[in-house]
Amino acid sequence: MDLNSEAVSKITVPAILDRKLRGEKITCLTAYDYPTARLVDEAGMDIILVGDSLAQVVLGYDSTVPVTVDEMLHHLKAVRRATRRALLVADLPYGAYHLGRAESLRSSIRFVKEGGAEAVKLEGGRKRARLVAALVQAEIPVMGHIGLTPQSLHAMGGYRVQGKTLDSATELLADAQALEDAGAFALVLEGIPRELAALVTRRLRIPTIGIGAGPECDGQVLVIHDLLGMSFTPPAKFVRRYADLAEVTRQAVERFRDDVLAGNFPGDRESYHWPAGLREQFEKDVTRRG
Ligand code: KIV
Repeated sequence: MDLNSEAVSKITVPAILDRKLRGEKITCLTAYDYPTARLVDEAGMDIILVGDSLAQVVLGYDSTVPVTVDEMLHHLKAVRRATRRALLVADLPYGAYHLGRAESLRSSIRFVKEGGAEAVKLEGGRKRARLVAALVQAEIPVMGHIGLTPQSLHAMGGYRVQGKTLDSATELLADAQALEDAGAFALVLEGIPRELAALVTRRLRIPTIGIGAGPECDGQVLVIHDLLGMSFTPPAKFVRRYADLAEVTRQAVERFRDDVLAGNFPGDRESYHWPAGLREQFEKDVTRRG
């Protein structure tokens, strides 16, 4: 796909909804900086998510809980500058929508006005339905996120697959329905059995985007560092590594180190030169001046 041509067809919220009607899969990856977002956009991803996974994969926090609105915004702006085609979604971090509607609107409006986001994502089901409706009323498209919601780490007592009992599966279906009714345009289903994800996907009119939720979802999302082999924790069961960039990076850095230590870098090809004759002129001049 040549995304440098002028004929780049922008992915919009209605275009994402249309995908479900047509039975076409939706592709989504996270990005947190300019070069990654450019490559992801140019490769033709439908959605770029500036996820709060930023906290762990880029900023080195232990969980997604500590990352702030300002930190998210800083990275969102870089991704915005790189993104031409994909729909740009920004994750509301923990604490950005927990103190009430006004604060949630403020965080979201900052993402849209200052960061250039075209939609926001937030975690939680029925308890967020009124908030989702308020954001939609404020012209901000919302992507829901249910199942294993990493911001509820402490409440869940760890990262555990959700919806494995009849009761919890019923709750999750009710959450999904409530978010659709509140006006969410898509729903991330994370860490749930594929049978449950398939059922939710069939029941909803809005598309489901799965991560650890099996192949029947309308789309799939991964954290780009997992896909590229650039994360330092063992990958979750649902991750497929398409590259080992950590190893490629390590080897490149070690070769650079060895070349510098051995005096092999820079070589003549990596050096600038005086124009012909300047050296003799300079030496003569230095000698004359004493
Ligand atoms: O923060 C994130 O990257 C996410 C995706 C895993 C869906 O929420």
